[in-house]
Amino acid sequence: MKTATDTPTDVRTAPSAASTSSAPVRVTVVVGSNRTGRFGPVVAEWLLGRVRAHDDFEVDVVDVADFDLPTTFAPTPEVTAQLAEITPKLATAEAFVVLTPEYNHSYPAALKNLIDWHYHEWRAKPVALVSYGGLSGGLRAVEHLRQVFAELHATTVRDTVSFHHAHTSFDDTGHLKEPSAPTTAAKVMLDQLAWWGRALREAKEKRPYGG
Ligand SMILES: Cc1cc2nc3c(=O)[nH]c(=O)nc-3n(C[C@H](O)[C@H](O)[C@H](O)COP(=O)(O)O)c2cc1C
Repeated sequence: MKTATDTPTDVRTAPSAASTSSAPVRVTVVVGSNRTGRFGPVVAEWLLGRVRAHDDFEVDVVDVADFDLPTTFAPTPEVTAQLAEITPKLATAEAFVVLTPEYNHSYPAALKNLIDWHYHEWRAKPVALVSYGGLSGGLRAVEHLRQVFAELHATTVRDTVSFHHAHTSFDDTGHLKEPSAPTTAAKVMLDQLAWWGRALREAKEKRPYGG
């Protein structure tokens, strides 16, 4: 497993010396639910296992349950302190995996709030989407997130992983009862994410994104 260690404050102004085509892609996994008693950590543990098992990534995590950003966009000292923890993990990422449940046919407000508190950090980067929920497996949340990330100049990768009736897909110890199909789907999705991560890294090394 590779772990993010050295975090430059702003990748837009300080390209990493390791930004070569062979260096691992720095990916931040965003855990998108903060509900008391949430199921999210079970899916997140499985997902982190898949990302860490993939050779192409250096992994960091932002969990929306670890902070409490207001929806008022007021830059108070408390908010500034929280963003000092969160923002570098987004800014230094070259790619994202966003884990979302489905709430009322969309994704949680806390996830939207995290997205909206940032702008440049998402720009010209690939985003892979993993979802869970009831019958739909969170697919409607995923399609809504594609629209949001398009506005932010991020590109969502085509393939996803979705857990339909997620609560019954995992056993009491947090392991998938039938891991084969989700593991294959995760490999396909993460391969696409790595390709986009490297492709956009190389493109940005040649010319800054100007959209
Ligand atoms: C407010 C709310 C709305 C929900 N709406 C949907 C829905 O529209 N479609 C669906 O498949 N599941 C829905 N669910 C079920 C959740 O996707 C499921 O409980 C999931 O585990 C929630 O993620 P969390 O446990 O990490 O908060 C909803 C759950 C909540 C709490």
